[in-house]
Amino acid sequence: MNRADVIQLGYLVAAVLFILGLKGLAKPRTARRGNLLGASGMLGAVLVTLLDQAIVSYWVLIAGLAAGAVIGGTLAVKVQMTSMPELVALFNGFGGAASVLVATASFIKLTDLGITDEQVSVAASATALIGAVTLTGSIIAFFKLKESLKWSGFGGIRTVNAALAVAGIVLSILVVTDPTNTTWLWALVAVGAVLGVLAVVPIGGADMPVVIALLNSLSGLAASATGFVLDNTLLIIAGSLVGASGLILTQIMCVAMNRSALDVIFSDAPASSAVGIDADDVYAGKVTASSAEEVAMILDTASRVVIVPGYGLAVAQAQHAVREMTKALEENGTEVVFAIHPVAGRMPGHMNVLLAEAEIDYQKLIEMDEINPTFAQTDVAIVLGANDVVNPLAKTDPESPIAGMPILDVDLAQTVVVIKRSLSPGFAGIPNPLFAADNAVVLFGDGKRAVTDITKALGE
Ligand code: TAP
Repeated sequence: MNRADVIQLGYLVAAVLFILGLKGLAKPRTARRGNLLGASGMLGAVLVTLLDQAIVSYWVLIAGLAAGAVIGGTLAVKVQMTSMPELVALFNGFGGAASVLVATASFIKLTDLGITDEQVSVAASATALIGAVTLTGSIIAFFKLKESLKWSGFGGIRTVNAALAVAGIVLSILVVTDPTNTTWLWALVAVGAVLGVLAVVPIGGADMPVVIALLNSLSGLAASATGFVLDNTLLIIAGSLVGASGLILTQIMCVAMNRSALDVIFSDAPASSAVGIDADDVYAGKVTASSAEEVAMILDTASRVVIVPGYGLAVAQAQHAVREMTKALEENGTEVVFAIHPVAGRMPGHMNVLLAEAEIDYQKLIEMDEINPTFAQTDVAIVLGANDVVNPLAKTDPESPIAGMPILDVDLAQTVVVIKRSLSPGFAGIPNPLFAADNAVVLFGDGKRAVTDITKALGE
């Protein structure tokens, strides 16, 4: 077996590990093993790639690996769980940038050597366009998620984007038909970069989860196209897996938010600030504040309690306190389950990850479609740091940024206990009439503190 065979065999094993890893990631029970399998596949792929004779300098690679490991390790330790979506957005952008750099470098090297190949030209132009859109689009998504970018573009921005997309197609054709003139490729990268900015800028905050999933898919497609430039089968397979799983995730998120991907990209989603409903009209004189002792008394007589976790659970890091409260309730003979909305929190599976961290049995985690018909038979729904995912305006106000998003029907429970620090809005920036409903009480305070106090009061 020669060196090339070893590399191909290594790539085959890595590809199989990636697929098994993805399969494992689909279920909480096997997710850890899936992650490990995927990571082992990547390690194997990197190691066999190092055998490639085309490598010019190992020192450059080691320096790159060291710098990447330091930056990645620091980010992994420092970044809060609540900022994960921003980090994922940046990772997508880096993926796009890496593809653009590798594909353009290879393309230019080949044309310098006088080698022109249609497959390489087509793939390089696809990488340049998709990779550049992914890079700048992800940077804009990062700043939008951090809420440090409020600009939502200018009148006619969609028309400019359409013109840029047409320019991108024309330039791609020029790259293929006139590969020796590398100016076309650089112009394509520039057009892609501007398109990435202008395509993401008008998208409203509420649609950001979908945009991140879509950019993730694009980063995979860019990597796959780079695989065709380099003639590297593993990159083609790995990129396609990322592209396909990103697309599936985009579709799941779109269904969860009742939007189509085309709506997200092309329609003018109402920005949160454009929403007309005034918080004072919704809340003034109608909100019933409660205390931990009162909530404990309500819970004491309940036979079924549904806990609805949201982003505030992550901010408060209340998952361990929730486990203790669940235990106390169960010892009291109360049935406790958790209602999981697909976009609760700030990343897909956010609530599942937090509750799993506190070793709450995932059999108690019930998805929205399954739990909604049971709220009417629920004594108490505890809304813990959730807001948009339980906001009835999604059903009643067509002007709302979350209009049409399916919600958890907690208002059907006999009593709703809302735990949050104030009447501040959630991610979508709108008031929530649920908090002022006749059957709702609000326990104001930090989620962890409030839940700990309730558990204490239950014991007394
Ligand atoms: P949100 O609507 O964002 O509401 C979170 C609530 O938590 C806020 O009203 C906040 O109120 C409360 N809170 C914050 N810190 C708290 C603390 N320490 N203790 C107690 N409460 C606290 O959350 P949600 O219902 O989970 O909805 C998620 C939203 O994020 C959706 O609009 C979704 O589209 C969007 N989004 C989702 C994702 C994914 S993929 N899941 C990604 C990006 C965006 P106070 O400040 O008054 O405490």
